[in-house]
This record gives sequence, C-alpha cells and structure tokens, in this order.
Amino acid sequence: MNDIIDGLMQIPARISPKYFYDAKGSALFEDITRLQAYYPTRTEHGIMIAKGREMAREIGEQRTLIELGAGNCQKARALCELIRPSHFLAVDISEAFLHDAVAAMRLSFPKIDIRAIAADLTTDFVLPPDVPEHGRLVFYPGSSIGNFDLPEALSLLKRIRALLLDDGALLIGVDLLKNETVLYKAYDDELGVTAAFNLNALDHLNHLIGSDFDTRQWQHRAFFNSAQSRIEMHLEALTDQHVHWHHGVRCFSRGERIHTENSYKYRVDDFVDILRDAGLTRTQVWTDDKAWFAVMLARP
Ligand code: AVJ
Repeated sequence: MNDIIDGLMQIPARISPKYFYDAKGSALFEDITRLQAYYPTRTEHGIMIAKGREMAREIGEQRTLIELGAGNCQKARALCELIRPSHFLAVDISEAFLHDAVAAMRLSFPKIDIRAIAADLTTDFVLPPDVPEHGRLVFYPGSSIGNFDLPEALSLLKRIRALLLDDGALLIGVDLLKNETVLYKAYDDELGVTAAFNLNALDHLNHLIGSDFDTRQWQHRAFFNSAQSRIEMHLEALTDQHVHWHHGVRCFSRGERIHTENSYKYRVDDFVDILRDAGLTRTQVWTDDKAWFAVMLARP
C-alpha cells in the first residue's frame, strides 16, 4: 500500500504494472491476448506448436514444472501434454484467478501433483518446502520479463537461477524488436480493450487504498520508446483534478501522465547475454518465421 502511494506522489506519477491484475484486469488481459493486433500470445503459441516436440526432447520428462504468472494455465496445459511433468506448481499474483484454473488442471492431469501459490515476483518469493529439488523447469512465458528494467530483470533471473540448482532449466518467452507500427498497435487496439485494461488499474487502486480516481477523467496512452527499446503505457489526465485517499491527496493537471507499464522488446543476442549474466550460460532459441517472438531454454 505504501508503495502505491509513493508511486502516486512521484513526479511523474507511476503505478506498478502488477496492479493491473485484479480479477477484472486478469480477465481483460485474457481478452487482449485474443486481439488480432496483440501478436505476442499467438506468436508464442505458434512457436510452441511448431517447435514443442524439439523443446520437449531437450527438456525431458518427469520434471517439476514451475510456471511464473500462470494465470489461466492455458500455456501450462500445452506444455504438460508435451513434457509430462511429475509435479506442477502454478505461481501467480492474482490468487482468485489461479484457483479455478488449477482445479481444472487437476481434472485434466490426474497423474500430476498440482499446486498453486500466490506470489509477487517483484519481491523475494519462496517455494513451498516440499517442492522437489531436482529436475526443475521454470516456465516464464508471455514475455512478462518485458515488464522489468534491466536491473530488475537481472535480479529476477538470478533468483530463478537459484531455484534451478544444478540440473534445472528455464523456458522463457521473450518479445523481440520489430516494426514500430506493429509494436504500438499491439498496445493501442481499436476496440479499446487495452485502454480498459490500463484504466482498470485506477479502479483497482481505488479498491486497495480507498482513493477516488474517476476513470472518466483519464485516457489511455501507448507508444514505442525506441531509445529504451520499450513500449510505454501511461494514463493521461483529461482535466485538472484532485485525487484523494485516506490522509492523502495528489493534484494532477490536464495532460499530466501516470506511467503504468514498460514492455521491453529485445534482440535475441542481447537477451542471451542477460541470461548469461544471470548464470544461465547454455541457451537454445526458437523463433517464429518473422522473428517476432522467441522462446529460449536456458540452463546453468
Ligand atoms: C503480460 C507483460 C507480457 O507487456 O505485452 C499487454 C502486458 N500490457 N497489453 C505485455 C500487456 C498491455 C503484457 N505482459
């Protein structure tokens, strides 16, 4: 809660993208993944379909699969079919969403030991003590790593590296640099789903800190920042206004922005270097035909 208020009081104000994901935000994100303009989910899925058997051969069976940001577990489903893990641990920040998805997974895969934990990857998360230590496969799809600046991404990857012990592996989805129009249209769709997703962060904050943001006074903004190689999302005030919460207030002037998300776009080689810096020295890379997205298998 304090981190939310700190962010709002900064100039420019900021909200961590983790606050997109209340129940409504998680559902809106699912809607985004089905948009024609939003290429990452379907492109990554295409890579998994085309190269999944090859990946599975590299990974091997009877692993302990740990998915970070599991959401509806749709991606884990496909992966479980391919690699037949002995255990599956679904980790997500949005608990409500996770429980139904995991219940459905148990019905589909009665032989896999399946569990869910709610955890925030931006802080130190710990695995339950009885998660098997050997043969761990951490799965971090969707290019969620793109939300983090380089130091944060490195620190998360190092923490993942530590979970892998000696014989684990990381399977990670990474969105790649591409034509700027393709990039920005994926974050400013014509149906306004991404706008609704971005604005919903304000309703979520109202719920969390008791603030009185009025979403009608804000508009969605998204653009590609090429110097930083990232999509930026912001909320822009349509009017001068005061936003209140318990013991606090923040004035915004018309046109002022709250920075809500970065989504970094990488070159393959640069990301392989980052993995190496995190202690993941052996990396294999699969991409789609257009090289819009990469799935990487990285090992210590
Ligand atoms: C879930 C972080 C991968 O950056 O593409 C989608 C979130 N934001 N549309 C992304 C998002 C706006 C998404 N990640």
